[in-house]
Amino acid sequence: MRTIIEPFRIKMTEALPITTRAQRAERLAAAHYNLFLLDADDVTIDLLTDSGTGAMSDRQWAAMMQGDESYAGSRSWRRFEETVREITGFSHIFPTHQGRAAERILAATRLKPGDIVPNNSHFDTTRANIEYVGATAVDLPTPKSRDIHSDERFKGDMDVEALARLIEREGAAAIPFCMITATNNAGGGQPVSLRNMREVRALLARHGIPLLLDACRFAENAYFVQQWEEGQAGRPLLDIAQEMFSLCDGATMSAKKDGLANIGGFLACNDARWAEDFRNLLILTEGFPTYGGLAGRDLEAIAVGLMEALEEEYQRYRHATVEYLASRLIARGAPIVRPAGGHAVFLDAAGFCPHLAPADFPGVGLVNALYRDGGVRGVELGSVMFGRSGADGSETPAPRELVRLAFPRRVYTQSHFDYVIETIESVFADRAAIPAYRIVWQAPFLRHFTARFAPA
Ligand code: F0G
Repeated sequence: MRTIIEPFRIKMTEALPITTRAQRAERLAAAHYNLFLLDADDVTIDLLTDSGTGAMSDRQWAAMMQGDESYAGSRSWRRFEETVREITGFSHIFPTHQGRAAERILAATRLKPGDIVPNNSHFDTTRANIEYVGATAVDLPTPKSRDIHSDERFKGDMDVEALARLIEREGAAAIPFCMITATNNAGGGQPVSLRNMREVRALLARHGIPLLLDACRFAENAYFVQQWEEGQAGRPLLDIAQEMFSLCDGATMSAKKDGLANIGGFLACNDARWAEDFRNLLILTEGFPTYGGLAGRDLEAIAVGLMEALEEEYQRYRHATVEYLASRLIARGAPIVRPAGGHAVFLDAAGFCPHLAPADFPGVGLVNALYRDGGVRGVELGSVMFGRSGADGSETPAPRELVRLAFPRRVYTQSHFDYVIETIESVFADRAAIPAYRIVWQAPFLRHFTARFAPA
């Protein structure tokens, strides 16, 4: 088989910052060892997130020039709405400035203290928005996801039996809605099968509980379904995505991922009463319903981007890139979450640093080492992001200590990834030297963004 190539050529370039090891050590200390606090100008390969960091196509830039900036009823809104409706089929569609704005409107209008929202795994902003209104976010990942090193497929599935038990125990009235995150970001970027979604749907329908899709990476999920799921081979990605949405009553979306845009999102549903509540809060906090916090040109870029994300050649290349990095790390014995996710490779920081306990924050040690060694920026998804600290300063660890290397869309080439592999190899060889870190200061919510650390 020939090399799977980038299905695009490059027409504009952006210089990469090249720094020395001594400079990077100094920048790390100035940033309190929290990579969120670095200047991006000091980062050579930025794998912090795949969110809003993609390169737009010439077709998207061309569409942006046609942005209609009318306050109400703009042409760009119509185009956005038509595209989102074609893909999702939902009756009511609300643009938002990004995914968490959709989550906030959903949580604020549908939840009250004491309510419960199950998900295969909540992303941090989803969980925080649910908890902010006094409800409880419950993760119900499939048991097959427990072994992060197994090559089982669809480890993003929800545990249907655990969901049934939760409904039995708490009663349907305590569960205003259930969510599925596809792909499952917090759980290693693993996909959700159509079969699992159908089972969840059937169970919830018996109890009258609506299902919402956290659709940030719906197109990547559709590609996994096409590649892996029985009976799905060769099925157009749009068709698969349409079925995914048809199993749901609504969706939250960050267009910064599979919208291939730098900003934007939406909230959608079928229920007219829900839509009424969404609209009222949207107008109060985001903007009039035909722009919802976005410029007309953003709506244009998203409308084109959503369809480009469903192009087969694009998804083939994207998955090949992730696979390229993952297979080389596996060959070198570096511990990673398997199989490779859709948007990222997740390093097993606990496996990298067997000499560190969860309270030593091995993920923080690993991201700092990667940055110091090669100027590569990843993100900790472990006990800083998902753990909890008690009033007495005690720490409840997260179930696993991961470091995510997320792939911005259409941004880095194969040689950039060769450089990343060399950096990881170098850190892996010297992993026993990775120190423990302590939290010096932290915020009460989403502490990972602003926490200050110090090497122990
Ligand atoms: N849901 C999932 C699964 C996400 O991954 C994100 C964002 C959101 C919701 C919120 O969307 O950022 O537009 O408000 N994830 C980014 C990341 C930040 O790096 O994974 P947003």
